[in-house]
Amino acid sequence: MRQKLVAGNWKMHGSLAANQILLTALASQLERLNGMRSAVCVPFPYLAQAQTVLTGSCLAWGAQDVSQYEKGAYTGEVSASMLLEFGCRYVIVGHSERRALFGETDAVVAAKFAAALVAGLTPILCVGETLEERDAGRAESVIAQQLDAVVAESGMAGLAKSVIAYEPVWAIGTGKTASPAQAQAVHAFIRSKLAALDPDVAAALVIQYGGSVKAANAAELFAQPDIDGGLIGGASLDVDEFMAICHAAQG
Ligand code: 13P
Repeated sequence: MRQKLVAGNWKMHGSLAANQILLTALASQLERLNGMRSAVCVPFPYLAQAQTVLTGSCLAWGAQDVSQYEKGAYTGEVSASMLLEFGCRYVIVGHSERRALFGETDAVVAAKFAAALVAGLTPILCVGETLEERDAGRAESVIAQQLDAVVAESGMAGLAKSVIAYEPVWAIGTGKTASPAQAQAVHAFIRSKLAALDPDVAAALVIQYGGSVKAANAAELFAQPDIDGGLIGGASLDVDEFMAICHAAQG
């Protein structure tokens, strides 16, 4: 039985004062939930704060990106071992904003995924198609290509230690969620594609949905058989919204 995972992706939001209130409230309210896992992926400068506030709570934390390199002359980069020192369990790799705005290719994403695994972090691998790709009937082939790059580098043994997040680009920050049936169809495609390589790994793999998930639509998305929780952007910055989404993942 897969346990659902609800992870917040704060993106480039937050301040020390606002985070303190949000993290403290989430940590205390999440204590009463069980049967699901939760995490927040915060901007790098706030990892120490997350570690201080969340240590001992049931809310895990992580980062939103990681360098593909282990160490060295890579100005501005943050390594996987540095994230580990701040208690991170998760790191998002290949978010569509990084692919589209910062030029991350499938090869770079695969290298970052591998670097996270080597350090013992759990990568949350984001995949998803743009509206143009969907309209052209290419959603599945785009997602397959994104997955293939990672499988080629890390194998199904690597995938077994990761989380996948299906995030249709057209649903991110737009208020336009994929319908539960649309999302389920892609999740089932991802799972069956990976099952052809390793049925046990595919069956156990947590596949989150991301893209305008809110308290109002979380329950019906999470009720789909292949949707194992969510990667939450905007709604993860609001205690009540995030808590309601976590409750929906409890089933
Ligand atoms: P929104 O929930 O704000 O649409 O963002 C989704 C996302 O990109 C999570 O990684």
